[in-house]
Amino acid sequence: MPELTAICPGSFDPITLGHENLVRRAARFADHVIVAVGHSPTQEKSGLLDVEARVRLIEEVFADEPGIVAASFQGLLVDFARERGAMLIVKGVRGVRDFEYEMQMGQMNRHLEEGIETLLLPPDPRYGHISSTLVRQIHSLGGSVEGLVPVAVARRLAG
Ligand code: PNS
Repeated sequence: MPELTAICPGSFDPITLGHENLVRRAARFADHVIVAVGHSPTQEKSGLLDVEARVRLIEEVFADEPGIVAASFQGLLVDFARERGAMLIVKGVRGVRDFEYEMQMGQMNRHLEEGIETLLLPPDPRYGHISSTLVRQIHSLGGSVEGLVPVAVARRLAG
């Protein structure tokens, strides 16, 4: 069987415990996992961390897993996936809102590139309530993000 490379794309601003769990689950069935930070220059201003910081934190979180690497991309996800030889996009779906969004994206990506499949996974129930948006909000209002993000992220936000 040829080796399988999966992509876990997202904004990861910042990476959460839910993301970490999803990526580690993807690494159980894929030989290589690319955690891909998608960005466009126009989105940059509203974010918490710049793209380089997001990628560095992802590298830190998965430093124990040689099969998981971090990268950033601009433009279409399917173009990046094709460039990196990835045949599978893995995304988490927490509820109906995610489902509607991811279903449309999955179908659009399939329209653009039939050879790349999308796999939607339910979250681990410990993490279904976590989103980067809420983490940013809690952080900006002075709350603790411990238990929501990997230790490396909590440290970075505290410092
Ligand atoms: O889950 P997120 O954080 O909203 O992830 C967003 C991301 C980066 C995965 C998504 O916006 C994306 O794939 N952007 C690249 C542009 C693209 O390929 N769009 C899909 C065609 S409609």
